[in-house]
Amino acid sequence: MQFRSIDFIPTEIKVLIVLLSSVTSINCRSYVEPGYYPGYYNRGQENHYAKIQTALEKLDHAPEWIPEWPDRSVNLGQVSAVALDNSGRLVIFHRAANVWDATTFYMDNVYKGITTKPIPEPTLLVFNDTGSIVDKWGQNLFYMPHGLTIDSQGNYWVTDVAMHQVFKFTAGDRTKPQLVLGEKFVPGADETHFCKPSGVAVLGNGDFFVSDGYCNTRVIKFNAEGQRILQWGRDSSDSPYSFNLPHALALAEDKGQVCVADRENGRVACFRTDNGTYVASYKNWLIGPRVFSVAYSPVHGGRLYVVNGPGATVPVRGYVIDFTTGRLIQTFAPQGDFHNPHDVAVSPDGADVYVAEINPYKVYRFSEESLRNESLSKEVVKSDEVVPVKPTATVESSSLAPASWGLWRGAAGGAGGALVAAAVVAAILALLRARNRGRKGAPRRRWEYGHGEFKLRRLLERRRFTRVHSEDSDDEPAPMLPPQPPANA
Ligand SMILES: *[C@@H]1O[C@H](CO)[C@@H](O)[C@H](O)[C@H]1NC(C)=O
Ligand SMILES: *[C@@H]1O[C@H](CO)[C@@H](O)[C@H](O)[C@H]1NC(C)=O
Ligand SMILES: *[C@@H]1O[C@H](CO)[C@@H](O)[C@H](O)[C@H]1NC(C)=O
Repeated sequence: MQFRSIDFIPTEIKVLIVLLSSVTSINCRSYVEPGYYPGYYNRGQENHYAKIQTALEKLDHAPEWIPEWPDRSVNLGQVSAVALDNSGRLVIFHRAANVWDATTFYMDNVYKGITTKPIPEPTLLVFNDTGSIVDKWGQNLFYMPHGLTIDSQGNYWVTDVAMHQVFKFTAGDRTKPQLVLGEKFVPGADETHFCKPSGVAVLGNGDFFVSDGYCNTRVIKFNAEGQRILQWGRDSSDSPYSFNLPHALALAEDKGQVCVADRENGRVACFRTDNGTYVASYKNWLIGPRVFSVAYSPVHGGRLYVVNGPGATVPVRGYVIDFTTGRLIQTFAPQGDFHNPHDVAVSPDGADVYVAEINPYKVYRFSEESLRNESLSKEVVKSDEVVPVKPTATVESSSLAPASWGLWRGAAGGAGGALVAAAVVAAILALLRARNRGRKGAPRRRWEYGHGEFKLRRLLERRRFTRVHSEDSDDEPAPMLPPQPPANA
């Protein structure tokens, strides 16, 4: 048998095929828990690497990592969440022996282990200041822990992505939740179902928000009784209300805002807590295209603490953003950066910061001692103006069936990728043709040139890591590189 040479395919078509497949693969990235490989950024690209180093040097390297924390004897699984209780102790939510990987769910988001028993070990661990476990519970309750929040009354709120549920536990009863939202193991997108809900944020008056999550890409506000009052984010248009995996929530209650770590959009998006109106987004080229979690402290006028993720051409680190100006002011990481940070928590005074990692199974502590003794009393403007609102939807445009939503998004992503690739190829071909014509002395068709440039520019702008919010930004576009294979996984 003879193999035919592929030389009969014109080079332009080959270029097209390569571009199509690479760009499409970027857009079709699936949203299972992040890739299990260490943070990668391209040291081979000298200019980009140098630019990153320069940008990092300009930032304050704080808070400082506390290497001997927690106690080494502590045995953890995938640590999915960190939160501080009302006495300032760290609480973590972990998966013990359970692991979320590509085989955990069926295509329709149903958990494959519904006939198995819940995790028998305590999944909630409480640490004292020196890093010893002083309390633990949460055994025989959960399958795939994700989010954890402790409200001002000391209630624990957790999400389980396998059960598709949100639970509230009071301090007094740790075996039976006081409130359960969602139907066990049944994913959905209607009023009574979630699909892999990721996080919770609770207002002082008891109203709370749920980020829902891996397939529904919406944020829902409930009143204290668990009735839905607001929802936004299922809008598929290119508006600031549409998410690409809302992965964690943080409340800036003194600002009357709830902020969403919009993971695959690489931004923190903040909305009014009272009526869900969009206020601002925070992005930065140095943080890159993925933001896994966000926390807020009212210190010094308000600061956002974010962690990014692997797979991009930026280092995996923590960053502190000034809430008012949107400027990056600090960066923090353990030695050698993070690998797969999944959640971040900060104490109200900003002095203690904790980061959970999915892989390796770790929790890190950082501290900024100069903030520890500062009085917050002058700065915090308490806002009790959060008035209950009538149940109305703000931005809710999609009525797609729940099960088809994830698929539809994937398909749209692929089609979008193909369109973008086609636009790039068209632009390149147009440029080549224009140049050839130029050589032959034919007049350049300027509109074609301009059109191509316009499309390229728009494309680069979409990929650019700038902050939407304020004047300070580094305007260089990020290089468009496909995700890299594991460095040394
Ligand atoms: C934390 O707990 C350990 C073990 O019980 C104890 O030795 C240590 O003194 C405690 N630290 C604090 C700050 O209470
Ligand atoms: C939310 O409230 C603000 C301030 O009253 C108002 O400007 C905005 O239009 C409101 N948004 C909605 C959707 O009602
Ligand atoms: C903060 O206050 C404590 C107790 O008052 C004191 O021991 C500590 O040295 C102070 N730290 C700083 C950084 O000022």
